Amino acid sequence: MSSQDKTMDKLVSLCKRRGFVFPSSEIYGGLANSYSYGPYGVELKNNVKQLWWKKFVHDRSDMVGIDGPILLHPRVWDASGHTSGFNDALVDCKNCKKRFRADHLVEEATGEDLEGEMEKMKQAIQENDIKCPECGSSDWSDVKNFNLMFQTEMNGIDEPVYLRPETAGAIFIEFKNILDSMRVKLPFGIAQIGKAFRNEIVAGNFIFRLREFEQMEIEYFIHPETDWEPLFDKWLDLQEEFIMELGADKKDLQRYEHPPEKLSHYSRKTVDIEYNYPFGFKELFGLAHRGDFDLSQHSQYSREKLEYYDQEKQERVVPHVLEPTFGVDRTLMVALLAAYTEEELENETRIVMKFPPRIAPNKIAIFPLMKNKPQLVEKAREVFDELKTKYVCEYDEVGSIGKRYRRQDEIGTPYCVTVDFDTVDKDNTVTVRNRDTMEQERIKIENLESYFAEKLEF
Ligand code: GAP
Repeated sequence: MSSQDKTMDKLVSLCKRRGFVFPSSEIYGGLANSYSYGPYGVELKNNVKQLWWKKFVHDRSDMVGIDGPILLHPRVWDASGHTSGFNDALVDCKNCKKRFRADHLVEEATGEDLEGEMEKMKQAIQENDIKCPECGSSDWSDVKNFNLMFQTEMNGIDEPVYLRPETAGAIFIEFKNILDSMRVKLPFGIAQIGKAFRNEIVAGNFIFRLREFEQMEIEYFIHPETDWEPLFDKWLDLQEEFIMELGADKKDLQRYEHPPEKLSHYSRKTVDIEYNYPFGFKELFGLAHRGDFDLSQHSQYSREKLEYYDQEKQERVVPHVLEPTFGVDRTLMVALLAAYTEEELENETRIVMKFPPRIAPNKIAIFPLMKNKPQLVEKAREVFDELKTKYVCEYDEVGSIGKRYRRQDEIGTPYCVTVDFDTVDKDNTVTVRNRDTMEQERIKIENLESYFAEKLEF
């Protein structure tokens, strides 16, 4: 099934029906494209984050992790340039009062990417007589810069503080503490997973563009004289490898290198890894060479030296940094899209979420064939109690076996185990059903542990 056939409507509906993702504040009429991860969504999300942490922190000797706060000193955002420059171009429709990103309006109408070029955007809206997508009017306000940071107040601080617009800031300001407390040597990286907040002018496309989201970011510090291009390419490969481990197909990925005129003045190279969502190729992850911009800026604003002592060369250097960044919510959206499968059976369409088992919310579901037969229920509960010590399992006795299989297919559970009369009356075997092939085999209860150890070995 091509990614283009997987409409957002079908995915959004499955996510709500099966407890992956719910529109948040729904009983109050909703709140501006915000979402809650439901019981299966949070399992999926935790599995994805754990896998990322394992791949990029635990499995490597050149990485350490941190968990910094959301509220940081306001100077952090002056130093990083967010206070003055973290803006998008906003334009209001005076007729219907809807707000739009001016660069997105122009791009949709003309195909031209004018992000950051205010004057050209104003001109393009006029010259192409771009109409409001909501009401058709062309009564536009002026195009204005809009800062995306959320402001709040903090007791004892007499200026606004901000909810961090990216996790990276919290990493840079711990550079010195990491050097002082850990035995790190260049090249090394600091990783963090956490919330970020952006007051996006327009949020949308389900969990693609949110105002409150999560990031998994790495600042990978290198010696300024390092031959950085092979490392840069290696990071891009690792980013793609990660999303493919979650089920994405290589053909749905492409790299977009920012042209020189779009690069920040400090960046030597920036590449977006894009995914082929149902609404087209758009950014999934990013990788930027940021030079020594961040450490130098924080050094200047904080008056703390943020340098690395190179023992071999006996010199102090300000390292350069490569920044691989991953959006958690976009990663989940890709994992959900990649897993979504419709199969035509004889009389029906089977919807099955073919998650790689390591990220599936449930690993095994256990059923008694009938819920009104105490001997089946008791045995099924015993099997459940045993298996749940090793795997995330679910016990279900409601409805026909066929319906229970379909439900677990939609949740993406790799295996279902059914206890029936042969189990209790004959040979202590159960039926194990494979989600993807729908094949069933009889396995002795005492062999289930070794059976799943082999099947669910990650
Ligand atoms: N520190 C670099 C940085 O924040 P970015 O491209 O602005 O770079 C990094 O964001 C990643 O965060 C993106 O590749 C995307 O996956 C995710 N992201 C950014 N804005 C988002 C939003 N409004 N909603 C969901 N995810 C977002």
